[in-house]
Amino acid sequence: MTFATIVRTKALPVADWLDPAELARDPYPSFRRLREEAPVAWVPAVNKVLISSYEGCSFGERHPEIFSSNVSGGTMVRAMGGQPMIRKDDPEHAAERAPMNRTLRPKQIMEIWAGKFEANARHYLEEMIEAGPGSADLNLDFAKPLAAKNLCDMLGMTNVEPLDLARWSRDFIAGTGNVLDKQEIWDRCETSRAECDAALDETMARLRRHPDPSITSMLIEAGMDEDKVRNNVKLAISGGVNEPQHMITNLVWLLDRSPEQKAELWADPGLWKQAFIEASRYFSPIGMITRETVADVVIGDVTIPADTQIGMILASANRDEKQFPNPDVFDIHRDGGPNLAFGSGVHQCAGKWAAQKAVGEIAVPMLYRELPELRQDAGRRETWDGWVFRGMTNLPVVW
Ligand code: HEM
Repeated sequence: MTFATIVRTKALPVADWLDPAELARDPYPSFRRLREEAPVAWVPAVNKVLISSYEGCSFGERHPEIFSSNVSGGTMVRAMGGQPMIRKDDPEHAAERAPMNRTLRPKQIMEIWAGKFEANARHYLEEMIEAGPGSADLNLDFAKPLAAKNLCDMLGMTNVEPLDLARWSRDFIAGTGNVLDKQEIWDRCETSRAECDAALDETMARLRRHPDPSITSMLIEAGMDEDKVRNNVKLAISGGVNEPQHMITNLVWLLDRSPEQKAELWADPGLWKQAFIEASRYFSPIGMITRETVADVVIGDVTIPADTQIGMILASANRDEKQFPNPDVFDIHRDGGPNLAFGSGVHQCAGKWAAQKAVGEIAVPMLYRELPELRQDAGRRETWDGWVFRGMTNLPVVW
């Protein structure tokens, strides 16, 4: 299978300069250098071939028969204690994905979940305003508990404290990104897995007696065996908290620096959806996804051998100047085609519509409606963390 009509290919370039610590500080300069020098490169520091161009990532996503999701020795399976759908290929993947879709289609988001997202956003906003007064940490006081509560509701895990769910999510994600194999991170994953399983014992017993429209209930109703239900609930927990949480702070950070675009959103709230999509391109919460080749494959002028661990850097693809002119400019009117923040192809994010509604159309517009003077606190800097998964750990704001 070839990606372009190239007759001769060259050996895989090696990017031995790439430094994970530098990526965690600010990954975008390194991503740019990778795209310019070697958009397909072996990177010893992460033991993977990294693909950093839009064209290359998009090709990988469209060819799951070559770029398998069933990654051997993967960190995610170790972090969650089992193999969820995202680490399977079709047809096994499709069989597990179908019942989850029943809860998360746009129609269900509108009819079942939008009202709950609205009530949850109002609750945490009122708490933040009362606790203020006049200042808060937007990540810790609003984005994090709200994203976690929305997911507790969607999972039917009403017996769980949202901040416990957020902690499990953070630990599963740390395990999935634990390419440096730190034991302390595996220990945290084990504790969170045990707590999550105990909560699931109760949730599943209740949902068997009283089914509801939640994700967990749909998985049970589809006749999925218990281990698969647990693995896929843990997958939703790892993907369904941090990313919407980070999108709330990303959007506010970007609008703070784009007063004209913020004014446009005031004048035309119909633009919020575009603002959310552009923010997901600009700061993609999932920086990299992993695959493994099952056959030799040519990308551009480079051959990747079979059985190679691959990292597709979605955050870099979304800043690829060949796809998005002036990629480092946040522009809600951008017209560069779909971005890859939610992936594409068969594994495209199951929670895309939920996140777009909860964050882009409900939580952030509500923040600005209720607090028109909301802005980053000029005296206190925000903090960022991660590159495989990246977002703000603090965003001090005033109003
Ligand atoms: C802004 C928020 C979000 C972003 C940026 C995001 C991003 C992504 C990406 C890039 C993938 C593809 C991974 C791959 O191909 O390896 C994915 C898959 C997935 N996401 Fe999300 N996600 C978000 C929110 C959510 C939410 C709220 C949920 C749950 C309600 C969720 C559940 C899932 C699941 C279950 C998959 C696996 C789909 C499959 O394997 O078929 N995500 N997400």
